[in-house]
Amino acid sequence: MRTVIAGNWKMNKDLPQAMDLLARLAAAAPVGDVEVVVAPAFPFLGQAVERLRGTRVAVAAQHCHEAAGGAFTGEVSAPMLASLGVRFCIVGHSERRQYCGETDALVNARIRALLAAGITPICCCGERRAEREAGRQQEVVGAQLREALAGLSAAELMRIIVAYEPVWAIGTGLNATAEQAQDMHAFIRSVLRGLAPEAADQVPLLYGGSCKPDNAAELFACADVDGGLIGGASLEAASFLELVAIAHRCKQPR
Ligand code: PGA
Repeated sequence: MRTVIAGNWKMNKDLPQAMDLLARLAAAAPVGDVEVVVAPAFPFLGQAVERLRGTRVAVAAQHCHEAAGGAFTGEVSAPMLASLGVRFCIVGHSERRQYCGETDALVNARIRALLAAGITPICCCGERRAEREAGRQQEVVGAQLREALAGLSAAELMRIIVAYEPVWAIGTGLNATAEQAQDMHAFIRSVLRGLAPEAADQVPLLYGGSCKPDNAAELFACADVDGGLIGGASLEAASFLELVAIAHRCKQPR
């Protein structure tokens, strides 16, 4: 199984700050086979690809539109991202669901657009606090995934990454416990198995939500946690690279 550590910078960093962080990541020695991905804001994607060329760090976008092009002011298409050398794109992040009206149907359309453009979608799912308190987390995440991934072939499913990000853990300092993460990741694996048995064991499942160097080892040690989608702790080179090193230690050899 692949191990992936992806940094979601969200709407943080201006150009000098972004270039400084990219330079620090570019200078760091590669750690084992961990796939390292960073998602700066749209304006810096082209420079990020250039700055990281020849390193083992790949570039992701944080969003894309589902259409290939046209009259959609302010939007960015998957073919545009591909033409820059962007290799991954986050889809269905809870902040886009909450603030930008991203529905499961849109997530599905965007995943299709990304796959058609040769970009790996990082498909986010996760329940809200009230849903977990009501014991509905599997129902919610299962429904999100079945709609987001509806109609994809096994070959297409093998090309995606899923990130489980409980909404109550994002940016709150309150991470899921290892047991909660493993339970949900095993459930997600079973949902994938229901969609395409041959794909289920190929899809990396990332945990996201207040994942930091001091809690990552127990999360990454879980059998079905194949890495992390990291927000706050990806904004500093030291903490992000420490997470890459922890993932390497937890996942070798597999
Ligand atoms: P966080 O964000 O690590 O700051 O909680 C994770 C995410 O939203 O991807």
